[in-house]
Amino acid sequence: MAAWCEAFGWEAGASVPSAARSFFEENGYVVFRGFASPEDTHALRAAADAIVRNPDHAPPQSAVFTTVDQARAMDDRHFLESASKVSCFREAKADQLPSSMDATEKMARSINKIGHALHDLHPTFASFSYSDDVRVVAESLGWKDPMVVQSMYIFKQPFIGGEVRPHRDASFILSEPSTCLGYWWALEDSTKQNGCLWAVPGSHKDGISKRFMLNNTRTGTIFDGEEKCEYDTDVYVPLPMRAGDLVVLHGALMHMSLDNTSEKSRHAFSIHLVDAPPASTYSTRSWLQRSEHLPFRSIRNPPSIVSGRN
Ligand code: FE2
Repeated sequence: MAAWCEAFGWEAGASVPSAARSFFEENGYVVFRGFASPEDTHALRAAADAIVRNPDHAPPQSAVFTTVDQARAMDDRHFLESASKVSCFREAKADQLPSSMDATEKMARSINKIGHALHDLHPTFASFSYSDDVRVVAESLGWKDPMVVQSMYIFKQPFIGGEVRPHRDASFILSEPSTCLGYWWALEDSTKQNGCLWAVPGSHKDGISKRFMLNNTRTGTIFDGEEKCEYDTDVYVPLPMRAGDLVVLHGALMHMSLDNTSEKSRHAFSIHLVDAPPASTYSTRSWLQRSEHLPFRSIRNPPSIVSGRN
């Protein structure tokens, strides 16, 4: 088996093998097979399905998410406010859905993603995000006191699911020093056909030079700096995953995904962590700023909506 697709088994309550940490440090990602149980993946998918079929969550027509022409497509207010909400974003190609489709189904199938505070506002996503196993992985990889700063449910809809251009997550989640760590769970099998992740092994060692941040009036966003390291297409490796698998991504790892032109969706749930002070300081220029009523929480301090907590 090629080094890039080496993966590690996972059992609830287990510790991270030292070989997994070594693989992560060398390559910038590591895959754990079967991290989420079938019950977990079912619960997360059902919770997301209920959200996108609830008319109260229907996004404005302008709330399109795309990385192809982000500046033009972005509804700034909807996007910035989503930091402290459960907000839906539309697929850019939602108008290609058949006009004969049932209205509720059409709304559900038009959603690109839900973000960005599911993990603090929705009990199903909170219980999953603030689990001991999630914490153990971060601590085993060297994070001291990680806070969960954002969550996304990503649909990659059949036929219309848009590509995500090459990027490093730490360009979007700013802290000093950079301590962004991403978790990405396949909730359905993720293949080259339906738009799996592709990554450049070792690219995390090149660091970040381009930053997505609030503009000076804090009413919109800008990119600051240029990407210093571009990579040829042939150095990207596919990361196919089965439902329940987890890939942990170093914040500076270059990765992307292609359009989903298949008939199968590719649902995924993702969270991003940064280390709390004194290890690192979250940037006041990061696009994602929480309202004062919903501060970031340490992964050791789950919100009260997590079942079994006070
Ligand atoms: Fe990403």
